[in-house]
Amino acid sequence: MNTPDSIERVLLDEEKIAARVRELAAQISADYADSDGLVLVGVLKGAFIFMADLARRLQVAHHVDFIALSSYSKSTVSNGAVRLIMDTRASVAGRNVLVVEDILDTGHTLDYLLRTFRARNPASLRTCVLISKPEQRQVEVKVDYLGFEILNEWVVGYGLDYADRFRTLPYIGVLKREVYE
Ligand code: PRP
Repeated sequence: MNTPDSIERVLLDEEKIAARVRELAAQISADYADSDGLVLVGVLKGAFIFMADLARRLQVAHHVDFIALSSYSKSTVSNGAVRLIMDTRASVAGRNVLVVEDILDTGHTLDYLLRTFRARNPASLRTCVLISKPEQRQVEVKVDYLGFEILNEWVVGYGLDYADRFRTLPYIGVLKREVYE
């Protein structure tokens, strides 16, 4: 597939992502095998593609739900203020909740989500994150299932965007600096 001019290089190609998603799904399926199932909560918009692929590989009963958040002033400075703009459809009380995120950057979003869900008394609460940028962390959050750790580069594709562009690229690519600087 041709890469758009804005992409410097492919970081994770389709095969590599698919293989890791299969491994994560196998691990999650094994860990929840003796449970009465789980609810996957995808964080919109970025997680929609990862969530769809992960869910279809799970060998354990599950429901899917979504939550949408918006972080204030993300493009300038990430100060950790997160706003809930769409809540899950169903209650998570008493259920095994797995929060599914595309990327963990400063950690503020996942920290907010974990605090929010913990207060709702789920039976269990875990996190599944495709990409982590450890160098960027401002708040430590626990990741139970992690796809890849990467360096601090702006990555797009497979759900990840720059100004809402490039989300549906089938691979994860590094954006050229000149696009965002
Ligand atoms: C991204 C990503 C996470 C968040 C992580 O969302 O999907 O939710 O940033 O960043 P943090 O660790 O610094 O909080 P974004 O705000 O880009 O919205 P989107 O998913 O709609 O693209």
